[in-house]
Amino acid sequence: MTAIKNPEVTIIRELLKANSGFVSGNRLAEIIRISRVGVWSHMEKLRTQGFVFEAVRSKGYRLVEKPESLHPLLIEANLVARKEPPPIIFLEEVDSTNSEAERRLANGEEAPFIVIGRSQTAGRGRLGRRWFSGDSGNLLLSIAFRPNLSPDRMRNFTLWMSVNLCEAIANTCKISPGVKWPNDLLYEGRKLGGILTEARIDSDQTRDVIFGLGLNINGHRENWPKDIASRTTSISDALGHKVDINRLTAVLINRILTAYKQFIGNDFTDSFSNMWEQFDLLRGKQISLLQGKTRFQGIASGIDDSGALRLKLNTGAELAVHAGDVTIEKK
Ligand code: BTN
Repeated sequence: MTAIKNPEVTIIRELLKANSGFVSGNRLAEIIRISRVGVWSHMEKLRTQGFVFEAVRSKGYRLVEKPESLHPLLIEANLVARKEPPPIIFLEEVDSTNSEAERRLANGEEAPFIVIGRSQTAGRGRLGRRWFSGDSGNLLLSIAFRPNLSPDRMRNFTLWMSVNLCEAIANTCKISPGVKWPNDLLYEGRKLGGILTEARIDSDQTRDVIFGLGLNINGHRENWPKDIASRTTSISDALGHKVDINRLTAVLINRILTAYKQFIGNDFTDSFSNMWEQFDLLRGKQISLLQGKTRFQGIASGIDDSGALRLKLNTGAELAVHAGDVTIEKK
């Protein structure tokens, strides 16, 4: 009998399932296919990582405390919906999780894989902006894929992913964010998260895609630089209490992987238009869109099939724009 691949993940998963109840050492040993002494030695290792267990001779082990911050074992233990989740590369500090994913793709690493950073020294956003990425209780995540689809087929990728994230957050956290085209997640007018999708195109095929997500989960805006704090929020600021970041991260990873599969299989178009209507924050609003040095002003009226933002300009003309920086002028 060979021991299973990830004994510590399995131990944590079983103890979480027991919901603060006891799980016998025998049962853990049986599931993991190791001796009870083996179980004990894994428990000791977990103790050094911030897990607190109560051990009672006749009952077994009970999880009393777990790390509150991001922890790779807890993320994986919560990914119960996936039998074989993609590998998670967890880094205490990285320049940018997107850059790390890019380097690994360039080295031929098999995709999909997930990179999570506790902090980034050079986190980046769209349009060359910086993404504030101290160790702040927020999620900094990239998932690398090799879709091998024509660039044309990738057009609505970020938009599709963004509405899926909104729905997953709404279902899990009971706050309902929306999307500000093309890549901002907002809650009550403040930025909750952002998506940076980066692709490499090779002889007319989208060879690699890196889906980067920065989501403010347990950070407090008082801890951010003033200029950022005035425009941002986090899930915990919105709810008034912290959330289980590892569970939420697992939910989001699971959702991103499912949404990706639907996208690649072209099995998303029906749900997409409904979901876009539900989460689109711009429809019917007076907006201003900056494209380089050109500014367009008008009323946003949804997106077209290619994902371009439709605008009824103040001049009366209609326009569909593929890129730009949007400001909502009137609610
Ligand atoms: C934006 O709003 O402009 C997009 C921000 C995306 C930030 C995330 S954090 C994880 C990943 N790594 C990065 O360097 N950027 C993305």
